[in-house]
Amino acid sequence: MSRSLATTDLIQASRQPLAPLPELLDPARLPAHVAVIMDGNGRWAKQRNLPRVMGHREGVEALKRTLRLCSDWGIGALTTYAFSTENWNRPGEEVSFLMTLFERVLARELEALEREQVRIRFLGDLEQLPAGLQRLIEAATARTAANTGIHFNVCTNYGGRRELVQAARQLAAQVATGTLDPEAIDEAAFAAQLQTAGEVDPDLLIRTSGEYRISNFLLWQLAYAEIHITDVLWPDFDEAALVRALLDYQNRQRRFGGVEPVEA
Ligand code: IPE
Ligand code: IPE
Ligand code: MG
Repeated sequence: MSRSLATTDLIQASRQPLAPLPELLDPARLPAHVAVIMDGNGRWAKQRNLPRVMGHREGVEALKRTLRLCSDWGIGALTTYAFSTENWNRPGEEVSFLMTLFERVLARELEALEREQVRIRFLGDLEQLPAGLQRLIEAATARTAANTGIHFNVCTNYGGRRELVQAARQLAAQVATGTLDPEAIDEAAFAAQLQTAGEVDPDLLIRTSGEYRISNFLLWQLAYAEIHITDVLWPDFDEAALVRALLDYQNRQRRFGGVEPVEA
């Protein structure tokens, strides 16, 4: 026991102090799972006459801020859209910059993620990513798997339609081998085949940069998410912007198809 206490002390000592939850927010009504479409990096750079990729670099800082705040405030899961299956259509230099950025950031931040008890996972078709990035992803996933803090999911080469097709294919394969009765396929069985299996559905979806679309993100999981769209460009997303999103969420009435508001 004294040993585990000492380890806890060590973790506490090496950690930055927790950011307090702003008084405006009701701690009992925070979303359990926040999903974010981190958009507007290119426009942020353009506004400053910088190359687009500088927006991606700055976007990493916004992601670190957001993860830390969500973790400090006790939000259970944060799922962010980092690279879509459609983003391969971008110029080759931008795609390779992003892949290198993902590698560098992951290598650099892994220790901090471990220390802060973050459990990181990557959702998407990972086999198409560069081999070095795949190795880092494997290592980061394994090294943080037993962490007890926030679930941090990074959607990388992720597409909602592709995820649904893969789930259907996996179920069909089980039916073909006779291990699954088609009648047994219900919503829970389907959701269990998705990469988000085990995670509650997002309560809140935030999209930055003022675009009113889902862009192939979490098509199944967002069925009843509250949507907050802000004009803030992702690299500028800060505590004030996150508080606005959470306040907006707390002011919504969620009815899930019924007539009475359903409390979280
Ligand atoms: C989001 O910013 C980051 C990725 C899609 C990787 P964008 O790069 O889409 O920025 P805009 O939308 O062009 O401003
Ligand atoms: C969505 O942003 C994907 C990510 C944030 C990774 P995009 O910038 O790719 O989406 P569209 O093209 O505006 O729909
Ligand atoms: Mg964009």
